[in-house]
Amino acid sequence: MTRIPMVGGNWKMHLDGRAAATLAGEIAAGAGGVEGSVDLAVFPPHPYLGVVSAAAGDSGVVTGGQDVSDEPSGAFTGQVAASMLVDSGCTMTLVGHSERRHGLGEDDVLLSRKVRTALDEGLRVLLCVGETLEQRDQGKTFDTVLGQVRGSLALVNTDDLACVDLAYEPVWAIGTGRTAGPAEAQEVHAALRSELGSRYDARSAARIRILYGGSVKPANAAELMACEDVDGALVGGASLQAESFLDIARAAARRE
Ligand code: 13P
Repeated sequence: MTRIPMVGGNWKMHLDGRAAATLAGEIAAGAGGVEGSVDLAVFPPHPYLGVVSAAAGDSGVVTGGQDVSDEPSGAFTGQVAASMLVDSGCTMTLVGHSERRHGLGEDDVLLSRKVRTALDEGLRVLLCVGETLEQRDQGKTFDTVLGQVRGSLALVNTDDLACVDLAYEPVWAIGTGRTAGPAEAQEVHAALRSELGSRYDARSAARIRILYGGSVKPANAAELMACEDVDGALVGGASLQAESFLDIARAAARRE
């Protein structure tokens, strides 16, 4: 099955409003070069979602939230509802980024609720999973990421799965300059796909995109994208410049 790769830029807590609009405009201007062969998404800080969505215009570059509340509305100071993301021009949201799982202690029960709430509002979900260095060194990589997928997708049925993408982001590779090698990435991606095949069905598992994230740069993108089960990239640092982000997108577009 052919899967159209996706390249997402997670801008984390960087940039200001003006820089965010400029970057979105530059990415939108370059998006035509990969149109049809790769889907592009950007995940700016929440306050800039509106300006970024406007700057992206009808370029096909989609805007997503970096996080979403597990509640649809109410007295939840500081949280952002899925409906508010939609209202700000988003069609997607990240859920379960390691900086929230490990940095802020979000667990799979909470994340499964976030996934459900986002899907109910019509958002695509890019669910992130990944093991820490300690878990890898203890030989617990597969148990960890497969457990995260099972737990975070607990409220997702086979039909919903068409609105879900996964990102495998080993925590030890995020912002460290250290990437999982293609073989290391491929074996985890294949295990994730196989897990989805058992839990859902073979067709859904073959269809779902599994992005790789963790120090993806123009220099290493092509070898990662060449892996059979790597369907794009979730990019942090290198997504803050249009040229490097678009270089990675071009590498994904050239994927055999
Ligand atoms: P870096 O590309 O900066 O390692 O960040 C990866 C990431 O966390 C994307 O979500």
